[in-house]
Amino acid sequence: MTNSATAPEVRTEPNAHAGVTVGLDVGTSGLKAVATTPDGNVITEASAGYPLDTPRPGWTEQHPEAWWRAAAEALATLVAEVGADRIAALGVSGQMHGMVPLDDGDRPIRPALLWNDQRTGVQVRAIEAAVSRTELVRRTGNPAVTGFQLPKVLWLRDEEPEAFARVRTILFPKDWIALRLTGARGTEPTDATGSGAWSLADRDWDRDLLGRLDLDPALFPVAAASDAIVGEVTRAAADATGLRPGTPVVAGAGDNAAAATALGLGRAAPGIGSISLGTSGVLFAPVAEPVPDPLGRVHLFAHADGTWTLLGVTLAAAGSLAWWARRAGVADEGIGAAVARALGRPVGAGGVTFLPYLAGERSPFLDPDLRGGFHGLSLATTDEDLTRAVLEGVVFSLRDVWRVMEPLGTPERLLATGGGARGDGWLKLAADALQVPIGVPRAIPGAAHGAAALAWRALGTEVPAPTVDRWIEPTEHPALDEAYARFRSLAPALGPDDG
Ligand code: XUL
Repeated sequence: MTNSATAPEVRTEPNAHAGVTVGLDVGTSGLKAVATTPDGNVITEASAGYPLDTPRPGWTEQHPEAWWRAAAEALATLVAEVGADRIAALGVSGQMHGMVPLDDGDRPIRPALLWNDQRTGVQVRAIEAAVSRTELVRRTGNPAVTGFQLPKVLWLRDEEPEAFARVRTILFPKDWIALRLTGARGTEPTDATGSGAWSLADRDWDRDLLGRLDLDPALFPVAAASDAIVGEVTRAAADATGLRPGTPVVAGAGDNAAAATALGLGRAAPGIGSISLGTSGVLFAPVAEPVPDPLGRVHLFAHADGTWTLLGVTLAAAGSLAWWARRAGVADEGIGAAVARALGRPVGAGGVTFLPYLAGERSPFLDPDLRGGFHGLSLATTDEDLTRAVLEGVVFSLRDVWRVMEPLGTPERLLATGGGARGDGWLKLAADALQVPIGVPRAIPGAAHGAAALAWRALGTEVPAPTVDRWIEPTEHPALDEAYARFRSLAPALGPDDG
């Protein structure tokens, strides 16, 4: 196969007797596979793990072969339960922004650099020297970001030139799994817009930007629509996974767009976004037009249905809580009770403010060197105050993201997605801080469910949005606004006009 000039779309007759699609999610801590019916019900799921390598501080890597072994293992388990003939199609999703460098035999040249890798400060500056930040945001929707794919390609060229000389193709994590399944190289817009090199106007790789960086556009694969069938399971992949040879494989989406698809967000649900209080906290705000924040403080990516999304990421959300629980000697199973006790304390955490920048911060500061802290401690400060300050600090950092999104369009309602919230209490605090109702679905779907839903869409079936079990309505608290004002006085300014 070569990178062709046309989208790698394949026409396949869906298997008339098949009753499920399979969705895969190449996560950071493991791979998940789910089999779903056309109404979105999961009939079975399987997962397999792999390590996260941190060869140096700030570096994060995983080997693409480890992803493939996990995919083969999880699929073999799932197929044994479901039966290969019932699987009508398979869709892929995964961690965004990763860089998988392949040689002329489509073999990985080295481990992939991941979305949370921070090694590319020099290359980010080189990109913004070639094309100004303002111009980059206008053209690609985002400034140069350390975790995005483009600076990682430049890092490989700068730091491992012998490896770079052998690179023929750069893929995203989920697209490597699709390649192993089908033999076809490709991508789709939700991941491509997370590269940092995708032109919003051309809906294609920004050839001028790549040219100024002296990168060959042929390194980057052709993008099909997220719900396009891009290939069929090969005989070799069928042998490794138990799948039926010829099973159609659908392009899929990056994990945030896939999870949002599973929630029914996008064109079909105007005014609804999502909030996740997972290891990182994510606000997903669907927008009809690709209009970025001119300062690039929140991301603009393509959504899987041809619309767009603003995305804000606070890097340490439940990650801050887990860090604090370990420091306070709270065992993992005790975190829920500690959160409930802290949320029973008065708003404002006894005057303590927590800045959640334990891993630097993505939105809205794009500063890997930012650091966290507690402020306002006294002899009267209790453990509950500190826990509450952590919970408040995280939702305040999401309020910062929300304020930057506001002029571009914030949703009227949010749906909860992802894990980590440990009950409704923290979501209620988020609803109060953002002044927006938050719906909790009966069963919270994730990215793998969205990949399965995109496979259904490719076959002409729209999976219905999940039922919302309960709405958490916001309450106004002057004390919470005062605590946020304290947070603001300690956190970096939101923009040139914000003191
Ligand atoms: C989004 C981002 C993360 C990864 C995690 O910009 O970097 O949400 O997609 O998998």
